[in-house]
Amino acid sequence: MERKLLGASGVTIPEIGLGTWRYTSGPEPLRRGIALGANLIDTAEMYRTEAAVGEAVAGIREQVFIATKVLGSNLRYDAVLRAADRSLRLLGVDKIDLYQIHWPNPRVPIAETMPAMAKLVSDGLVDYVGVSNFSVGDLQAAQAAMPNVPIVSNQILYNLRRRGAERDVIPYCRQHDITVIAYSPLHEGALVSGPAGGRVRRALGLNRGQDALADVAAETGKTVAQVAINWVADQPGIVAIPKSNSVARTEANCNASGWRLTAGQRRTLEQAFPV
Ligand SMILES: NC(=O)c1ccc[n+]([C@@H]2O[C@H](COP(=O)([O-])OP(=O)(O)OC[C@H]3O[C@@H](n4cnc5c(N)ncnc54)[C@H](OP(=O)(O)O)[C@@H]3O)[C@@H](O)[C@H]2O)c1
Repeated sequence: MERKLLGASGVTIPEIGLGTWRYTSGPEPLRRGIALGANLIDTAEMYRTEAAVGEAVAGIREQVFIATKVLGSNLRYDAVLRAADRSLRLLGVDKIDLYQIHWPNPRVPIAETMPAMAKLVSDGLVDYVGVSNFSVGDLQAAQAAMPNVPIVSNQILYNLRRRGAERDVIPYCRQHDITVIAYSPLHEGALVSGPAGGRVRRALGLNRGQDALADVAAETGKTVAQVAINWVADQPGIVAIPKSNSVARTEANCNASGWRLTAGQRRTLEQAFPV
């Protein structure tokens, strides 16, 4: 498993981590992923999977980098502190490695939220602060409101079918040493199942992306899921966090690291899935 620096933190995280939205399995898929080097687990108070993550990391806590999130509706100063306390208890840990703001909330001034994030760091309850679904403007305002603690990551929707972040957010994050944590790298599974096929769709060129994925998968001897994840994660400053309830699919997803698509294969995919 290849690893990447997390923002300006000096620590590294795997380029493929484990998502847990709609995670309904017991500890095994997460434990298998951790054993294969995918020791970044992403959860959130919203997902109601923090207890399941806590169960999976029990006894191996020090091997795992736990990322969780405060809900966008809990961004008042005291609400952030209370949410972190709940997450710590559900996870069964005494420190959150990466605490992320799940969504910006225009009804709560960011100047109120960020000092609470900084307090969690100075109290030793959180190691690193990240955000999620933040635009360039949101990132600038959040960092200005927390001058002494670097924002190390921005978790955003990014996959072959959703490449809009390449226009602004990804370049900005690279310039400012903010790691992009790409969520839904399989587009919630849709990149694997693809749209319903058929001659009409094919004739209209609507299957172009899925066909390109299938072609590159055949060429590389990898699965479509592995190609889609590798395309995301094998980019500077970006890691991907696919989610799976299955041990076998978690293993397969971890094996999306450690090899490269050729420049030509990347081009084929990018032309078939334009920004
Ligand atoms: N910050 C945010 O706002 C936000 C939003 C969405 C997601 N996220 C995070 O990002 C993580 C990943 O995103 P996601 O869960 O939306 O979508 P995803 O990882 O793109 O796709 C997950 C879906 O793909 C299936 N799948 C996984 N591996 C597969 C494989 N190798 N072959 C075939 N199917 C496979 C899963 O089914 P099985 O489980 O049955 O394998 C599941 O249905 C989330 O779990 C969450 O941690 C964050």
